Amino acid sequence: MELNGLYRVVYISHSVITDEKLTDELIDIEKKASTYNKHRAISGCLIYCNHMFIQTLEGAKTDVLSLVDIIQHDKRHSGLTLIFSEYIQGRNYNNWSQMKVIFDETLLSKLSQSLEEVASLPLNTLSPEKVQEIMLYVSRFQDS
Ligand SMILES: Cc1cc2nc3c(=O)[nH]c(=O)nc-3n(C[C@H](O)[C@H](O)[C@H](O)COP(=O)(O)O)c2cc1C
Repeated sequence: MELNGLYRVVYISHSVITDEKLTDELIDIEKKASTYNKHRAISGCLIYCNHMFIQTLEGAKTDVLSLVDIIQHDKRHSGLTLIFSEYIQGRNYNNWSQMKVIFDETLLSKLSQSLEEVASLPLNTLSPEKVQEIMLYVSRFQDS
């Protein structure tokens, strides 16, 4: 596999954004992502659910990992834990001019139930079964 081939990561983290600031902060993140990610052809999706973030990022491996490093230091969330990081054959999100941001509670109800059980746990203690379940719900928001 080419060292800097197409790569996907999915991480989960706890948001520390207050409800009053949520909309503004999500708009800010979407704006930053739309510029930066487009420049580096990074596609993906950011889900906000139960005060947690789940983000998928796809692109050249070094670009994706550098971005994760930047995001990891962002004070708006904590406990960032990678639940998927692998080379991939193709993208699940085709549009890198805009990060897809999803926080519609009705769309997220299944994921929300699933996350409720782990909301108070350190995220690096999630079981492989739980990770699989979360990945399944997240996959529902793919473009293809
Ligand atoms: C949950 C979360 C997801 C983020 N996703 C991205 C992203 O995909 N792309 C991006 O450029 N910044 C993203 N950010 C923002 C970066 O962490 C950081 O704020 C930004 O790169 C800083 O840009 P600035 O130095 O120009 O202000 C995210 C932040 C959070 C909290």
